[in-house]
Amino acid sequence: MVDILAAGNVYDERIHNNGSSERRVGGSPANFAMAARSLDLDAALVGRVGKDERARFIGGFLEDHGLSFHPVYDDTRTELAVHRVYPNGGSTIRKRLRHEKGANQNLSHHDLDSAVSALQPALVYLSGVDKNRMRADWKGLKTTLKRVDHKMIDLNRQPANPAETAGFFKYVSPEFDFLFFSDSEIKFWHDIHVKHNGAQELTVYPSDPLMKEHKDTLCYATTMLAAGPRNVVVHMEDRGLLCVSANDHRRHVTYALPHKIKNVNPVGAGDASNVGFAYGLLHGADTVESLRMANALGALHAAGKEPRSMAELERFMKHDRRPVIQDSMRVLTR
Ligand SMILES: Nc1ncnc2c1ncn2[C@@H]1O[C@H](COP(=O)(O)OP(=O)(O)O)[C@@H](O)[C@H]1O
Ligand SMILES: [Mg+2]
Repeated sequence: MVDILAAGNVYDERIHNNGSSERRVGGSPANFAMAARSLDLDAALVGRVGKDERARFIGGFLEDHGLSFHPVYDDTRTELAVHRVYPNGGSTIRKRLRHEKGANQNLSHHDLDSAVSALQPALVYLSGVDKNRMRADWKGLKTTLKRVDHKMIDLNRQPANPAETAGFFKYVSPEFDFLFFSDSEIKFWHDIHVKHNGAQELTVYPSDPLMKEHKDTLCYATTMLAAGPRNVVVHMEDRGLLCVSANDHRRHVTYALPHKIKNVNPVGAGDASNVGFAYGLLHGADTVESLRMANALGALHAAGKEPRSMAELERFMKHDRRPVIQDSMRVLTR
């Protein structure tokens, strides 16, 4: 039994950040698992890798970080990712296996299913599922997810093939406690869902003046919420973090104002922040408390000051307590 099983892309990663270089394990599930481990959650990672030196590096690195790695070996090579971070805080990622398929792309729901059987996780965290073979059988993925109590998925990057998202929203999205987006991507997902899947576009009317400024994001999040998850979270970098949930005919938004930090590490802030909601689900915390944790974890990660324990995170949250706004919104179809 483990607390968390994270699944999706796993990379042998190089980060070049303003003159310094680092070799580490990358991919959203690994970022998430490492941030979870620092809060004393047990986390395991399942991913496809080749039988190569990169896979050995990944196994050793994860073990050194207290994570259990469940590799599924593949005949293709382990994927390599190169991140560059620029002084303005922006970053680019380049996959080095552009002309061949990396092992990542062969990850299937059978791999996840075997790992679920072996580890019996309390929570599953998925990321990048539209880029690997899980998308070949959305109904199969749904069956696997039904076996787990708590489920979250990050849809930060644009989908590889918009048409394939229809099955995801039809079968899989209602399984999730949380769907995560970044605010630079949610419009893209929203537009696909409306154009390809015929989803009804929803409009909400916030009453709080600050929430009115985020009205477009709230409308997109509300439309995505209608695809069935219990909560939709939008990462907004130095503009804070919001969570939309449903309750009868109204929608509720909970919004945390951002911490003021210097952004030195933009890679993986969203995954680190998602851990706050995982911690909340596993410990029965309410939305406000989970959101505060998530907002602080993301900010600390971006500042390059990841907490090494829950006590450290709590100290930061107490020292720099950010206001949380709650608003109940009317919803109409457009
Ligand atoms: N520069 C920042 N200042 C304050 N908070 C931040 C900053 N960057 C990230 N955070 C916090 O972490 C969350 C996730 O980070 P974000 O960069 O938005 O994720 P993503 O990885 O999707 O780009 C944000 O919503 C915010 O709560
Ligand atoms: Mg970011």
